Amino acid sequence: MLTRREYLALTAQAGAALALPASVFAQGGVITRPIPKTGEQLPIVGLGSSATFSQIAGAADVEGIRSVFSAMLDNGGTVFDTAPGYGASEEVAARAVNEAGLRDRVFWATKLNVAGRGASADPARAREQVETSFKRLGRDKIDLIQVHNVADMATQFPILEEFKQAGRVRYIGTTTTFKPQYTALEQLMRDEPFDFIGIDYAVDNLGAEERILPLAQERGIGVLVYLPFGRTRLWDRVEGHAVPEWAAELGATTWAQFFLKFAASHPAVTVVTPATSKPHHMIDNLTAAKGRLPDEAERRRMIDFIAALPA
Ligand SMILES: NC(=O)c1ccc[n+]([C@@H]2O[C@H](COP(=O)([O-])OP(=O)(O)OC[C@H]3O[C@@H](n4cnc5c(N)ncnc54)[C@H](OP(=O)(O)O)[C@@H]3O)[C@@H](O)[C@H]2O)c1
Repeated sequence: MLTRREYLALTAQAGAALALPASVFAQGGVITRPIPKTGEQLPIVGLGSSATFSQIAGAADVEGIRSVFSAMLDNGGTVFDTAPGYGASEEVAARAVNEAGLRDRVFWATKLNVAGRGASADPARAREQVETSFKRLGRDKIDLIQVHNVADMATQFPILEEFKQAGRVRYIGTTTTFKPQYTALEQLMRDEPFDFIGIDYAVDNLGAEERILPLAQERGIGVLVYLPFGRTRLWDRVEGHAVPEWAAELGATTWAQFFLKFAASHPAVTVVTPATSKPHHMIDNLTAAKGRLPDEAERRRMIDFIAALPA
């Protein structure tokens, strides 16, 4: 593996970082991947904030949230995915990182959506929601804002473009985890200047591989993977089953490491963002970003192993 210094010398000579594979450049032993549009490196495992994270945020457990952030940052992770729609997550997470002085170490990804289901968004309310995200975090710049669930893109995405042009948001995009929205997402990926998309992908949920992930590679769009455990679906599936011994060759000794190494090993994927409310789970998840990732044959074996378990 190259040192950081060797890597920088090499990319200066080559003039570009974009073509280098994931494992070339690791921070603190954590594998990183380049954001396709800029080459900025991100650790391949981060932290999501719906599900259990949002439950502890809802209980205003600032100390609990801070300990999950510390576990992420101390172990080489940086990417945090949140949304105004995740109950108290964005607000309490912002308080936790501010009070602990951790704010500037986090790659902060939030979302925009003021449209009701199938309804249109009021532009004034949309701008106000983005400003609220800024106030909560207290930073001049937010790293990434995505339109949540491709909702009223005609109104909401141009607002994100304005914020990006004003230099206040670094990257913009959209998300979905609903299969009926994939066709609309594909068209948008062809038409709009996305830096990122967020999509569901897991060892037992491979739909994104068909067209979305190849298109992201073709268009140079970064990918955040959501639902890498299918919330609780994969946990239910493997209950009572040991992680296969052959997975230890990959450095995967827990089920979380198995699932995350799988999701992160698709070449289109930039960062996988599982949610957790527990520091020891955060450390477990970041362990998946160390060592090596499965090759094509090993990925096939992982899919087959899970598919063979009783549903
Ligand atoms: N449309 C969208 O934009 C969209 C939709 C869905 C999700 N997302 C994003 O994607 C993130 C991930 O999705 P998710 O949170 O719904 O589901 P997930 O990441 O698939 O699953 C989280 C579940 O796994 C558990 N867990 C986490 N790490 C573990 C470990 N090492 N060992 C055992 N259990 C572990 C968590 O419980 P513990 O707290 O006990 O660890 C929680 O129950 C979300 O938080 C959100 O940021 C975005």
